[in-house]
Amino acid sequence: LTSESYNVKRGDYASLTESDVQYFNSILSANSILQDKEDLLFYNEDWMRKYRGSSQLVLKPKTTEQVSQILKHCNERNLAVVPQGGNTGLVGGSIPVFDEIVLSVANLNKVRSFDEVSGILVTDAGVILENADKFLEGHGYIFPLDLGAKGSCHVGGVVATNAGGLRLLRYGSLHGSVLGLEVVLADGTIVNNLSTLRKDNTGYDLKQLFIGSEGTLGVVTGVSILCPPRPTAVNVAFLGLESFEQVQRAFVKAKKELGEVLSAFECMDNISQSIVEEHTDLSRPLSEQYPFYVLIETSGSNKEHDDAKLEAFLENAMTEEIVVDGVVAQDSTEVANLWQWRELIPEALGKGGGVYKYDVSIPLAQLYDLVIDVNKRLIEAGVVGDTTEHPVIATAGYGHIGDGNLHLNIPVRFYDKKVEKLLEPFVYEWISKVSGSISAEHGLGFAKRNYIGYSKDEQLVGMMKGVKNMLDPKNILNPYKYI
Ligand code: FAD
Ligand code: MLT
Ligand code: ZN
Repeated sequence: LTSESYNVKRGDYASLTESDVQYFNSILSANSILQDKEDLLFYNEDWMRKYRGSSQLVLKPKTTEQVSQILKHCNERNLAVVPQGGNTGLVGGSIPVFDEIVLSVANLNKVRSFDEVSGILVTDAGVILENADKFLEGHGYIFPLDLGAKGSCHVGGVVATNAGGLRLLRYGSLHGSVLGLEVVLADGTIVNNLSTLRKDNTGYDLKQLFIGSEGTLGVVTGVSILCPPRPTAVNVAFLGLESFEQVQRAFVKAKKELGEVLSAFECMDNISQSIVEEHTDLSRPLSEQYPFYVLIETSGSNKEHDDAKLEAFLENAMTEEIVVDGVVAQDSTEVANLWQWRELIPEALGKGGGVYKYDVSIPLAQLYDLVIDVNKRLIEAGVVGDTTEHPVIATAGYGHIGDGNLHLNIPVRFYDKKVEKLLEPFVYEWISKVSGSISAEHGLGFAKRNYIGYSKDEQLVGMMKGVKNMLDPKNILNPYKYI
């Protein structure tokens, strides 16, 4: 999709001139400015290759002061800007819609400080998540968030999207673990709220506004975050189950019997696993196929204690016929291999041509009904099949079931208006009827900007617009997105 096919009108922004570029040249080093068509490609296209913008300029400042100077200039000149992190977002929020300037924080990539006693990390926003975690590993700590894009996404990017990921169940939301932020506002003001305090009830907790604001309120340049000690004992079990009812029973049982060591409870349907099998050379963890699989991770500090707990849980779950089959990783390589069956799903689903993605929160009991209903609707409409005339390959469901968060994905051979009309607003109406959220963790970005009304009422949307107008009155930050 390009701006011509979006059905959106370019805002009344100024166009980039030679004198703007001269100004940026005067404040940034030459390698911080990209204008070459080839160099711009990555920054103009999203991870799914679904959205493409036509920015002529990417700026990669190395200091917060430079970010401030850039934004001050853009605000005065009325030039629109898209803040960008690792460009792994899944809702088209990180790339320009038209010719917005891309402000990449990739060169703000230093760890600023780490306190060995409190576990508080202060880092530049552009540090890659996996690098932050490796740094912490050296100190016996872990980043309190993990996700499949960890090798590319930034600490600032996950904060800007309020990403959830694979261990929210254990470590909670970033709204809890982020202690402070340094943010540059649209007019260039540097807001220093980089607190390293766990408790601070002196007024409104304004940093919360920027967590999940997807680059619409300010550019996050620094993050202070509380990190837990790194678990020294990690177990992973991969289980086969006959129904979604059994998945729910397994979850209740895991919470009760694994208690404080439970660190992930992920669920995958058989379709999503078949697609991973098709697009990788991995062999299935279990010899038989089941309608559902659950990946359970325990993380603790005493291997024998955790092994005993997991063993007892599995024995009981099998005796009670909640779980019919399973395998437990014997070493760290097997742990990583089992996780691949979960983490490689997003990439595998996109290999057939494209994928329609819905990231929803729904009351747990109804979670998988959405996949069943959508699948039925698509089959009845005759768009699903094995041949190249059929746009839809399958309907897949997986996700962070322990958090009530399902990823409904419809992998397609090609994007098709008919399929889109079958899916939307059907999916959003379905979610709204059960008072769910149309975006549990990926955000609104460009893809969901027109659908916020299915999850938030007019009063709330009005308040959000008020906040946006106060912090970015000229609407130069990430226009056409969010609300
Ligand atoms: P980008 O994609 O560059 O940007 C995302 C949004 O944040 C944009 O709106 C952008 O304008 C804004 N932004 C980025 N950096 C800044 C900044 N410094 N200041 C202000 N605004 C900024 N998400 C989950 O929640 N859970 C998952 O389990 C999960 N798994 C994923 C697995 C894969 C394979 C992929 C590709 C994505 C996954 N995601 C997941 C999506 C998730 O949103 C991103 O991976 C991550 O949060 C975005 O980080 P990023 O640095 O790439 O940001
Ligand atoms: C995941 O949980 O794998 C991510 O949120 C990405 C996706 O939804 O595909
Ligand atoms: Zn997810």
